[in-house]
Amino acid sequence: MLLYDTVIFDLDGTLTDSCPGIIACSKYALEKMGRPIPSDETLQRFLGPPLADSFMRYCGMNEEEAAYATDLYRERYNPIGWKENNVFPRIRALLAELKKRGAYLAVATGKPQEASERILSYFGLLPYLDAVAGPKLTDLHADKADLIRRVLPESRMKHAVMVGDTPGDIKGGQDCGIDTVGVLYGYGKNDEILAAKPTHVTETTDDLCHLLCPDMPAPKGYFITLEGVDGCGKSTQANAMEARLRQFGYSVHRTREPGGCPLAEEIRKLLLAKEDGGMCPETEALLFAAARAQHIHQVILPKVAEGKIVLCDRFVDSSIAYQGDARGLSREWIKEINQAALSKGMPNATLYLRMSVEDAFSRRLAESEPDRIEQMGLSFQQRIAEGYEKLMQENPDRYVPVQAAKPAEEVTEEAFQKLFERLVREGVL
Ligand code: TYD
Repeated sequence: MLLYDTVIFDLDGTLTDSCPGIIACSKYALEKMGRPIPSDETLQRFLGPPLADSFMRYCGMNEEEAAYATDLYRERYNPIGWKENNVFPRIRALLAELKKRGAYLAVATGKPQEASERILSYFGLLPYLDAVAGPKLTDLHADKADLIRRVLPESRMKHAVMVGDTPGDIKGGQDCGIDTVGVLYGYGKNDEILAAKPTHVTETTDDLCHLLCPDMPAPKGYFITLEGVDGCGKSTQANAMEARLRQFGYSVHRTREPGGCPLAEEIRKLLLAKEDGGMCPETEALLFAAARAQHIHQVILPKVAEGKIVLCDRFVDSSIAYQGDARGLSREWIKEINQAALSKGMPNATLYLRMSVEDAFSRRLAESEPDRIEQMGLSFQQRIAEGYEKLMQENPDRYVPVQAAKPAEEVTEEAFQKLFERLVREGVL
């Protein structure tokens, strides 16, 4: 049973943390005007009140300067800044679970309607909401209680609650005659929230889940690997995927192979050293497999069990493509020595960055000195690429191929969209 079947949420500071974008855009405007930059703590106060007021109050500007600063702020906010926002952990899962249990969910925010919908849509939260109310351009100073009334049907007043991080949210709910939850993880000062006397107070998003949705299932873990030939831009995309997943509210453990735990990192040094002591292909394959077994038991399985998204740069497919197809060892033997992976540690999804070997090879050589494996040359890389193509054919459900020979941002966009759709589809929220 839900304590409330109707939940109205504030947006900034309650569902998402929009501070990074607001701080970066304020700094951009101040730098362009050659003004001193206040501390991040001061810039955080820009959140909520009209921007021009904040530029006047905290940066000593007159009206004309503040209007100009606001234009500069928008110059960065409109293309980039609005996306520099983080969904608080567990919020997506909370909305999904409340919805599943039949609750009516809405957002009432002081952020303009259009901007709010754009953010909720981009971060994949809009599908869980029945209504969104923010000030329209004609009534930018709308009262919180009015905004709540816009999304709160009369028939649902009895079991409704307003959730927010500022005294204004609490007062808005009280003015509408409904219960309120003050959350302490947002931007509001704790003593001011408590002084507003909300019906409930929660310190973390976990507490909020507990209150609004008892017995919520624990977060589901998920294992994602990244694969591709040397020079396909994998490190850049691994960084970008990690950042995106975190922004979308996921708890991520980033790792790599060979390596990822102390023993495996020691093995990595042996494997990638230029002086290899005449290492034969079998030894190489066994060392990769040994490092992997340790990594699976010590890191990957425990982190997935904790409900984290494990994001791993290379995994067993690298051994199949490099030691198997490229070095010419039998695929079957590679699979045999990698039983730790194949029997209990296979990825849920593998992001495969497809790129022609020629493109990847020239990109890589331009970037840094090749390691022992990269020194093997173009035909070796060609065999790796063929190995990956075969793996993709054999594992259509696990493989998420992305064409990687295009600007890095476009690759990120496509890769993340595909991964995120998959996570939502599989209930990893
Ligand atoms: P690394 O510097 O991590 O390269 P990259 O950024 O391309 O992943 O070095 C890893 C090298 O080891 C890379 O050339 C691929 C190779 N490798 C194998 O040959 N077999 C394996 O099982 C793994 C995990 C990596």
